[in-house]
Amino acid sequence: MKPPKNVTFFPLFFTLLVLPSLISSWKKEEFRNCEETPFCKRSRSKNPHSCTLIATDVSVENGDLVAKLVHKSGDLEKGSGNFTLKHLVVGVSVYKNGILRLKIDEGPNLGVPKKRFEVPGVVVDEFLSGKVDLRGVLEEKIGDDLEESWVFEVCDGYEGVLRRDPFEVFVREKEGKSRVLGVNSNGLFDFEHMKGEKEEGEEWGEHFRSHFDSRPYGPQSISFDVSFYGADFVYGIPEHATTLALKPTRGPGIEHSEPYRLFNLDVFEYLHESPFGLYGSIPFMMSHGKDKGSSGFFWLNAAEMQIDVLGSGWDAGSDNIAMVQSDQKRIDTLWMAEAGVVDTFFFVGPKPKDVVRQYTSVTGTAAMPQLFATAYHQCRWNYRDEEDVYHVDAKFDEHDIPYDVLWLDIEHTDGKKYFTWDKLLFPNPEEMQKKLASKGRRMVTIVDPHIKRDDSYYIHKEASQKGYYVKDASGKDFDGWCWPGSSSYIDMLSPEIRSWWGDKFSYDSYEGSTPSLYIWNDMNEPSVFNGPEVTMPRDALHYGGVEHRELHNAYGYYFHMATSDGLVKRGNGKDRPFVLSRAFFPGSQRYGAVWTGDNTADWDQLRVSIPMVLTLGLSGISFSGADIGGFFGNPEPELLVRWYQVGAYYPFFRAHAHHDTKRREPWLYGDRNTELMSDAIHIRYTLLPYFYTLFREANTSGIPVIRPLWMEFPNDEKTFGIDEAFMVGNGLLVQGIYTARAKDVSVYLPGEQLWYDLRSGTPFNGAQTHKFEVSEENIPSFQRAGTIIPRKDRYRRSSTQMEHDPFTLVIALNSSGAAEGEIYIDDGKSFEFKEGEYIHRRFTFANGKLTSSDIGHSDGKSTYSSPCTLERVILLGLSPGYKTALIEPGNKEVNIELGPLRLRGGQGAVVPTIRKPNVRMAEDWSIQIS
Ligand code: NOJ
Repeated sequence: MKPPKNVTFFPLFFTLLVLPSLISSWKKEEFRNCEETPFCKRSRSKNPHSCTLIATDVSVENGDLVAKLVHKSGDLEKGSGNFTLKHLVVGVSVYKNGILRLKIDEGPNLGVPKKRFEVPGVVVDEFLSGKVDLRGVLEEKIGDDLEESWVFEVCDGYEGVLRRDPFEVFVREKEGKSRVLGVNSNGLFDFEHMKGEKEEGEEWGEHFRSHFDSRPYGPQSISFDVSFYGADFVYGIPEHATTLALKPTRGPGIEHSEPYRLFNLDVFEYLHESPFGLYGSIPFMMSHGKDKGSSGFFWLNAAEMQIDVLGSGWDAGSDNIAMVQSDQKRIDTLWMAEAGVVDTFFFVGPKPKDVVRQYTSVTGTAAMPQLFATAYHQCRWNYRDEEDVYHVDAKFDEHDIPYDVLWLDIEHTDGKKYFTWDKLLFPNPEEMQKKLASKGRRMVTIVDPHIKRDDSYYIHKEASQKGYYVKDASGKDFDGWCWPGSSSYIDMLSPEIRSWWGDKFSYDSYEGSTPSLYIWNDMNEPSVFNGPEVTMPRDALHYGGVEHRELHNAYGYYFHMATSDGLVKRGNGKDRPFVLSRAFFPGSQRYGAVWTGDNTADWDQLRVSIPMVLTLGLSGISFSGADIGGFFGNPEPELLVRWYQVGAYYPFFRAHAHHDTKRREPWLYGDRNTELMSDAIHIRYTLLPYFYTLFREANTSGIPVIRPLWMEFPNDEKTFGIDEAFMVGNGLLVQGIYTARAKDVSVYLPGEQLWYDLRSGTPFNGAQTHKFEVSEENIPSFQRAGTIIPRKDRYRRSSTQMEHDPFTLVIALNSSGAAEGEIYIDDGKSFEFKEGEYIHRRFTFANGKLTSSDIGHSDGKSTYSSPCTLERVILLGLSPGYKTALIEPGNKEVNIELGPLRLRGGQGAVVPTIRKPNVRMAEDWSIQIS
């Protein structure tokens, strides 16, 4: 994102330089493509089987399989200068739950100029403590050429294999020996050794447009192929604005296609269909197929990465059958990184949810958000002043629309100095926050990582005196342009600096902040307006001499971490933080939410938001959403309404808009549209108990809040390519409307069971595609038979005000008259849930009886008390003839009546209802119908 037109503080030449890009869209030439990126070009041009490395000296040390990789032609490779590279070191370890870790780095050779960067702070300790010592490694001859290999157990049913010549590592099923996942099966492995000195005539520096990267350590890239066996599709590797199932980028019939790029960038007006890298990077890919289910692969590396999905026949003409089993279907991929080491993880699945669990066991599951953060957020660049804030706040109440958070963008600061307030526009920030807090509402302010180089600014003074800034290649504080003009960037790699940064959020330090203020981290790719590709030069230097190229993709992650930890500290460890970040990396899910950046108000961008959010969810980051309405441009009213209707199901539900757009709060588009947007927001509030329960599921298991259909129906091939419809938990299926004036829409409802329309209760058959008439009132959404969904149906101003409201349970019966579901309740804000202070219950309906029983507490009891009761049970699909319900404890009998379904935007359907059971949510109870 670049400056708005009214940026007056830039020198004229700079303003002129950037202004043209404000009126046109994505500027392709500002960014490098693979051809212009030497390591990508080199790696991409390699032929299958060009790798000549073989594994030698294999042994088991400290429970790991270790080996050396040497060239087949001999074990010496002559490096330039005065050193000789002897080998690469391979380490294979096995961890709990079917995870194999493969590490490869340069051997400890004298003369290697620099230790390669290994990304700290991503892999969680619990994972490391689950290492399993390898025992009983067997030697085996495999393949037609009976090549020597070493076989070891990965987990029940799976074993790992290290092959000697050519070097290869793969996982296979124990029985039948069919392969699951492998590295270097196509012999594309390449590791550019860091050399001490240049050879004569060699040039290491690289030019791109007007920028020069000195590359003092020369080429150091790594590339290799990864094969997913039995796969029909591969998914993952966010962030790209593209389909959920990744399209091949190379192969017959594919010309001039770019690999999927992973390089965190601030992209102005991104396209809705492109492999181009956006704000965050997660080098995690998962496959899915009918034959084998799912497997996954993760490369922990923060340097620029490029990934090719190789279409079938990509290797035609090469002799490429020796190593892979030709009878096995597979998808090959090529992974290329500019620097770093090989630190990779293989996940055996075999179900999609297993892979997500395995991946998040390495990088951590999503943090449990505060309840308010799961509700609706109102944002715009910018709410001008306190009067504007009060006005917007009052309008929500006037129109009876709930909202929880009001956001302030960069203009609230004094000259883009974060942690300050523009005293004229926001003279009483504490009072403002308190007034909103009295209605249960919060505020968020923006805090970016670029610090204005202004000697009167306390953050700059301290950071420069303490040496806390990232340095340029010459060792001086790096100075780049961002919102405040000349800026320096806090070096977030250092734990000491992160801790210092975290302290800036204490109430004493951040003047005008109160406990109801939370934080938005933007521009943390980092965005540098005058830098190469709008980011920091790769030869900039971080703590410990780490080059920016080595950690670029993780910079924003450390910034997010430092801010989030700071919020925990300011509340003495008592309150859960809320920090939204634009840049992300594996593990970001532990620190807060992310959003998909600067999208545009058009239908294609509404459509692509779903695969983008689904992909983030598969990759561990469950708490994400797109700017409702589109950041750039002015949405036509119908688009805005449709966006609210879809966005109400994004895990992170926030409307946001660019400075230059027309105001678009929900009451500004005429009464009917206000009503429609309000209905959409109300639906989210009604479903908050369900969402919160799903957030807890993500927190404990990593399974995302919204999911692709195939995650719930892994055997149904028809779901594999669907990314316009999605599941919310296991119980709801939602289909967005992505075109103007749509009359009808086809929706595939998977599974053999029925689906009940959310608003009319009408049942539809599963395993069928239905054509539905489209109404302006809502988007198609269905509850799956066999599930129970908790709701809160009373309309309030904010989620906080709903805290003690009673619950409704919507039971959608399957063909055996059964259903089940869950509810999770805690105080919505503290960490006490970690000590067991929560209510987590399973509802089971079978043989006409609904029971509620505790889950998660060993003694079956929760010490968390809540006055909440159950006010209504709705039974969808109940056979006729049931008249009464007997409620225990209490031995109370009530009639089963026909009552309204009560979902806003509905057609006033009536369904069998048990009114006022009034049992307490925290306790055991049962309701028997007859
Ligand atoms: C870029 C962000 O993506 C956008 O959401 C924000 O409004 C602007 N920066 C200004 O802070």
